Amino acid sequence: MSAQDPITTGIDARPAATEPAEPARGRRGVFIKAYGCQMNVYDSERMAGLLAPLGYRPVDTPAEADLVVLNTCHIREKAAEKLYSDLGRLKEAKAARAGGMMVAVAGCVAQAEGAEIPRRAPIVDIVVGPQAYHRLPELIAKAARGKGEALDTEFAVEEKFDVLARDRAAPGVSAFVTVQEGCDKFCTFCVVPYTRGAEISRSASAIIAETRALASKGVAEVTLIGQNVNAWRDGDKGLGALCRALAKIDGVERIRFTTSHPRDMDDALIEALGEEPKLMPYLHLPAQSGSDRILAAMNRGHTAADYLKIIGRVRAARPDIALSGDFIVGFPGETDEEFEATLGLVRAVGYAAAFSFKYSRRPGTPAASMPKQVAEAVKDERLARLQSLLTAQRDAFCAALVGRTLPVLFEKPGRRPGQLIGRTPYLQSLHASAPASLLGKVAPVRVLAVTPNALAGELAEARGTEPQDAEAARG
Ligand code: 5AD
Ligand code: SF4
Repeated sequence: MSAQDPITTGIDARPAATEPAEPARGRRGVFIKAYGCQMNVYDSERMAGLLAPLGYRPVDTPAEADLVVLNTCHIREKAAEKLYSDLGRLKEAKAARAGGMMVAVAGCVAQAEGAEIPRRAPIVDIVVGPQAYHRLPELIAKAARGKGEALDTEFAVEEKFDVLARDRAAPGVSAFVTVQEGCDKFCTFCVVPYTRGAEISRSASAIIAETRALASKGVAEVTLIGQNVNAWRDGDKGLGALCRALAKIDGVERIRFTTSHPRDMDDALIEALGEEPKLMPYLHLPAQSGSDRILAAMNRGHTAADYLKIIGRVRAARPDIALSGDFIVGFPGETDEEFEATLGLVRAVGYAAAFSFKYSRRPGTPAASMPKQVAEAVKDERLARLQSLLTAQRDAFCAALVGRTLPVLFEKPGRRPGQLIGRTPYLQSLHASAPASLLGKVAPVRVLAVTPNALAGELAEARGTEPQDAEAARG
């Protein structure tokens, strides 16, 4: 790489006193923007933890930042465009900052585009792929010294898991814990297997140790995350066994996991959902389509009937389970009838929440070169129909909770004085008047009303707090 290489330009001019690789010499600001999925939110938190010992403190705007990290997502179109337009805006902020600003692009767009990013946007100093975040301090030092290539898009997940798990400053009430990364499923529309690499599980002992450490810092809820979280394995143990082991940790009140694949919903996990009260009654299980022909073209490895059978088994084990899913409309070749089959599947399941997307052509994936790409206007219309059905289902699910008493984990103060915000077992946000002493605690709350983005409730007597009990109390 030449001295003029865009990856390192602008760095040599930085005053030595602001060189960030040295241990904290005063405060430096870091602004991290996470695009896309929970994995990115988690990774961004971890990066902040990793940068804290170097003297970096989070700031609210790029203008205050000595280091800006854009943690990108590549799953649907326009990710790269969004990145370049953000970089365009940053150019001015960078020019205006007397002390200089280092710009790092992280995440899946970094993985996919690599050195192309600084070529197109010379303000970028560092490009770091999802498996190399733990080397961020080293890359910052390299870029700051203007030596060599500040670019790392290697796959070395094991190392990353462990380095990033350390030093989580103030994790709050609810925290993500990565248990698995990558995906081998190769759905024909999806870039994840290419950007995040093969499925790799973190060891049970590392996950348990991280969860223990989080619990000792006051974390009451852990959400186990991974692209295909229920593909997690350690020897003969799967996710069900892992959840049961984590449930034994003192202080851990709630366990969630996301995202699951229908093909990996094994009996042990379904049994754990039925038997372990700390496992929350909420399952995000993407279906993508209700048409068997489209599911086959997507390489999903399951039919609509397989999916419904799994839902039946899960509901038999945990009758109060709230279901969530992902759907794609307008996959290449999708006919009106095939789209109707998706609506049929949604009606058959009844979702509490869901995410739905127009098919987005991702270069390099098999579906991108399939014939009969669906017109944008048709996708728009299908998406609108699907979303109105899903919204109606979500509203009905929320409305049915009014009058019931649910255990709520209070996470943070509300906007009004004396108010706290928490979550129901079904992942809805709920606000209620409650003393600050309940922060981080689970308390019974009677649901009074459904507001546009949350539920409203009032503290109830401490009885019948588990969803099953509340169900029974309702009679
Ligand atoms: N187009 C539209 N949606 C997609 N998803 C993944 N790739 C694409 C794509 N190319 C959706 C899937 C997946 C969710 C995370 O994003 O529904 O489950
Ligand atoms: Fe993508 Fe399919 Fe893997 Fe999910 S299961 S990450 S949609 S390839």
